[in-house]
Amino acid sequence: MKQKKMIIAAAASMLMTATAQAAPFGGSADVSYAADLWASMTAAGYTGKGATMSAPYTGTHPHGAILDTIDTRLKVGDNDGLLIIKRNYGGEGVSKTAVANDPEKYLKAVTVMYKRKGYDPEIKDWFWVKYAPDGTPMKNPKGMSLAGRVGKGMGQGCVACHKAAPGGDMVFNHDRYAK
Ligand code: HEC
Repeated sequence: MKQKKMIIAAAASMLMTATAQAAPFGGSADVSYAADLWASMTAAGYTGKGATMSAPYTGTHPHGAILDTIDTRLKVGDNDGLLIIKRNYGGEGVSKTAVANDPEKYLKAVTVMYKRKGYDPEIKDWFWVKYAPDGTPMKNPKGMSLAGRVGKGMGQGCVACHKAAPGGDMVFNHDRYAK
């Protein structure tokens, strides 16, 4: 009986370890893919000084006071996928004009959805990242990097919120990518 209890305890602790390891995002593979994605975005002129941007517009929670969004395509290694970049701007004196004139000054975060063929059909193959302006993935309060299936199966996070987007494509702004 005692032995049985010990086995159950051991199994339970193994299961807990496995669950911790299987956190849906923020692992080393996700962080490394996020770095490749950033490098490709940089090579294509989507980051840094003079980066290609849209006209800034007034944003909604949680994405920031002023936003700009670009829909495009990008190659990362062999993967040629859709790329949606939403930059979040804020800080003192932020306005659409101020951002248009000096985007770097107000840039707070770069949120990205990138289609990776075969990545995870349950989330329409979107890879999610929230980058700091310097290109490193930002972290949640638990210290997990916001890269990968962020918020999948959880109550909050990119996936948790975006799964409510109309059209079933996880994209809010339009349904062009809905099948
Ligand atoms: C609480 C809900 C919510 C969360 C959490 C959230 N978003 Fe969004 N997101 C939205 C809404 C609403 C829009 C469309 C309105 C807008 O432009 O702000 C949007 C727009 C976007 C877009 C432009 C494409 C589209 O869907 O229209 C991208 C890219 C994006 N979010 C990325 C992310 C990433 C990456 C995360 C996680 C780090 C995230 N979002 C977390 C609600 C959310």
